[in-house]
Amino acid sequence: MNNLSRRKFLMGSAALAAFANLKACAIHKAADKTGLKDLYKDDFLVGTAISNDTLANDNQRLKTLIAREFNSITAENCMKSALVQPSQGQWEWELADRFVAFGVENDMDIVGHALVWHSQVPSDFFFHDDASPIDREELMRRMETHIRTVVDRYRDQVKIWDVVNEAIDEDKGWRKSDWYNFTGSADYVEKAFQLAHDAAPDAHLIYNDYNMHNPGKRDFLVEVLRDYKKRGIPIHGVGMQSHVGLDYPDLKEFEKSIEAYAAEGMRIHCTELEVDVLPVAWEHTGAEISDSFEYSDELNPYPDGLPADMQQRLTDRYVEMFELFLKHRDKIDRITLWGTHDGESWKNNFPVGGRTNYPLLFDRNMEPKPAYFAVADLKR
Ligand code: GLA
Repeated sequence: MNNLSRRKFLMGSAALAAFANLKACAIHKAADKTGLKDLYKDDFLVGTAISNDTLANDNQRLKTLIAREFNSITAENCMKSALVQPSQGQWEWELADRFVAFGVENDMDIVGHALVWHSQVPSDFFFHDDASPIDREELMRRMETHIRTVVDRYRDQVKIWDVVNEAIDEDKGWRKSDWYNFTGSADYVEKAFQLAHDAAPDAHLIYNDYNMHNPGKRDFLVEVLRDYKKRGIPIHGVGMQSHVGLDYPDLKEFEKSIEAYAAEGMRIHCTELEVDVLPVAWEHTGAEISDSFEYSDELNPYPDGLPADMQQRLTDRYVEMFELFLKHRDKIDRITLWGTHDGESWKNNFPVGGRTNYPLLFDRNMEPKPAYFAVADLKR
């Protein structure tokens, strides 16, 4: 190659590289515009949960997808008490720090999940070193240390906290969890809200639970909210986890709950949405993570892919849910999916281990599913 043609070639490749760059930027920008977060920007935040696996392995492909589609993130596991404080006074911040840094980098509303919950609590939380049970005062003290330490660390970055998770039983009032049994009442719940508020006075504080469409749970929580309001307990939102299936719950009940909580002055957050497409095992439709049923092939009918008719049902279910969310957009702050792609969903293992489920908007190759396009099309 002579000098002239080498120069032309070099210029050509520089121009090509510049063009490729421009094109990449254009694609990036176009994608930015068409992410769910942009389509729904006038309605509510659209979020997802980030797994420990994504954080620990720095999964760039998934992180890029999340940044394009979502403007809010929730810590799926990395902020739960057993993970940040695996035993008394021993703190592990690495994954939680990475989670928060990712949200800050991408200008997202970051949700801290969850400060007080009966599951995934450090094994020594309710016991002294000699294995004797702690008393009420000690439990309150440990709760205070936990909430202050975690909320304080992320005070400037985390705008929304799931302060208490799943403290109410189906139809039976307060859940008789270790928290309740060790303190002898449910005042740990209001104390948790007060502590979170003291540590981060500007944060939006949520009570989060599953089966929030259940009339018994709804009526009980409404009573609690009225009492809290009277007594000035700082609570700002209700998290309806929204672990739904193709035909449960009845959306009329779901809607009544949106209206009932909003009528008490609460902002509504759908915090853990996904649509389970697999057969319901033993009429189990809750999200108590210790529940588990034996595997059978009958309960795992689609190990090699979702048939077209089921794909359509999944799409239709997402559409009816998002139509309902849009109808109540004045009351709803955020819709968060519990994960981004099917391969990472806890629903592959709950409540029956080893199944192949298809509950999210992206498939196992991180490609958008028909349900994704249908949800997007509601806003195009
Ligand atoms: C509950 C919790 C979540 C998560 C799911 C399962 O809904 O709130 O943190 O553990 O169960 O992923």
